[in-house]
Amino acid sequence: MYDGINLDKIDISGQPPENEPERQYYFMAKARAYVKAERERLGRPLMSEVVTFGCQMNARDSEKLAGILQQVGYELTEDENADFVIFNTCTVRDNANQRVYGRLGELNGYKRRNPEMKIALCGCMMQEPEVIEKLKKSYRFVDLIFGTHNIFKFAELLCATFETEGMIIDIWKDTDKIVEDLPVERKYPFKSGINIMFGCNNFCSYCIVPYVRGRERSREPKDIIREIEQLVADGVVEIMLLGQNVNSYGKNLDKPITFAQLLREVEKIEGLQRIRFMTSHPKDLSDELIQVMKESKKICRHLHLPLQSGSTRILQQMNRRYTREQYLELAQRIRREIPDIAITTDIIVGFPGETLEDLEQTIDMVREVKYDNAFTFIYSKRTGTPAAAMENQVPEEQVKEGFDRLLKVVQETAREQAAKHQGKIMEALIEEVNESTPGLVTGRLSNNMIVHVPGNEILVGKLVQVSLDECHGFYYIGRVV
Ligand code: SAH
Ligand code: SF4
Ligand code: F3S
Repeated sequence: MYDGINLDKIDISGQPPENEPERQYYFMAKARAYVKAERERLGRPLMSEVVTFGCQMNARDSEKLAGILQQVGYELTEDENADFVIFNTCTVRDNANQRVYGRLGELNGYKRRNPEMKIALCGCMMQEPEVIEKLKKSYRFVDLIFGTHNIFKFAELLCATFETEGMIIDIWKDTDKIVEDLPVERKYPFKSGINIMFGCNNFCSYCIVPYVRGRERSREPKDIIREIEQLVADGVVEIMLLGQNVNSYGKNLDKPITFAQLLREVEKIEGLQRIRFMTSHPKDLSDELIQVMKESKKICRHLHLPLQSGSTRILQQMNRRYTREQYLELAQRIRREIPDIAITTDIIVGFPGETLEDLEQTIDMVREVKYDNAFTFIYSKRTGTPAAAMENQVPEEQVKEGFDRLLKVVQETAREQAAKHQGKIMEALIEEVNESTPGLVTGRLSNNMIVHVPGNEILVGKLVQVSLDECHGFYYIGRVV
């Protein structure tokens, strides 16, 4: 584990080691010397900020970036007017990209006033060649650009920014490497995400993730267990196992193991209270998994099961590899076996060729499954994906109308589902002091719903029994009992 490493004992006068993670420890020690010299020259601490766009996997990567920044001597801030700012980007939909360009413009303003400022970009968007071209042409003020496959090299690249002038670009096309034991700075002391796998092999026809995150690679179960044990020893009570398709975890390991088997092992970890995971692809969800969830005392009563569309014809075009009927049967089986479970989903509106009839089928599915919540997205054309080349793109007006109709049904259904729990007593993990209403703290139920209860920061990180007195649609107001 990283904890035992003393960077000050590393000799940085010689050549860097070849092996990872030792090589990165060497560069962390070196970067620490650069940061120290700069701090002494300026007579003030050096500030850094990590800004995350995108999914939980990016959020976890950002914690690793923050861990390194902190180890080399930067202080972490949430202010973009800092000495080192890194954007960890997402490109799953075009609006995520546009936000990055917009905020880069603002950073340029800060850099004009503080020429020593370093600006870095990493994450999924950087794996797209056209993005790099655009940055090289119009965003020359960026100091460092790297991708998803070599994020473990951050310390080494950070050193390079102290040693050379101009834009440093290091993008790998793919990797089979998984580097363990680098430092992490967690956002929450009591809960944490954990990568169990990287990449995706599914190639849903609309999705860019397989192109920017590479092929599926699973971590060894022993590394995962060791990391969770360490986190628990450090005060974590809830973990979320992360992967683009956790249900295919372990298939390609030398000693294959199923996701359900991994969960059984994780369940045994003493002191761990809650287990979550994301995301489950319906096509790979096994009976064994349902059984393990049913028997488990720790796995939360929540399953995120992306539907994408309720029309078998569109599902086929999307390359999702299940039919409407198969999905519905699966969802009903899960509800039957685990009655108190909340099922949430992702839906795309406006996939090429989607008709009003297809949309009707999706809406009907929302009513049938009774989703506890659903994230609805307008289809976004991603360069290089098969769907981008499809000819029958849906007119914007039709998409907007369909989206609004769907959203209404999603909200109705979610409200009905939530109302069912009003008056019950459930366990909540208190996550934060409520920012808008003084005197309230906010907790999360096992089924992922939010509850606000009177209390103060002493409750944060604690598991408490709460009474769900009033349901307000998407959250409850309650009290600790
Ligand atoms: N691996 C996960 C999803 C990761 S992306 C899974 O398969 O469930 C999260 C969500 O973004 C997807 O479920 C999908 O609904 C949405 N999404 C992905 N690509 C999109 C696109 N091109 N346009 C709109 N939404 C998209
Ligand atoms: Fe994208 Fe499909 Fe992979 Fe999810 S499973 S990341 S939607 S390709
Ligand atoms: Fe976005 Fe990359 Fe996640 S594209 S959704 S940050 S895997």
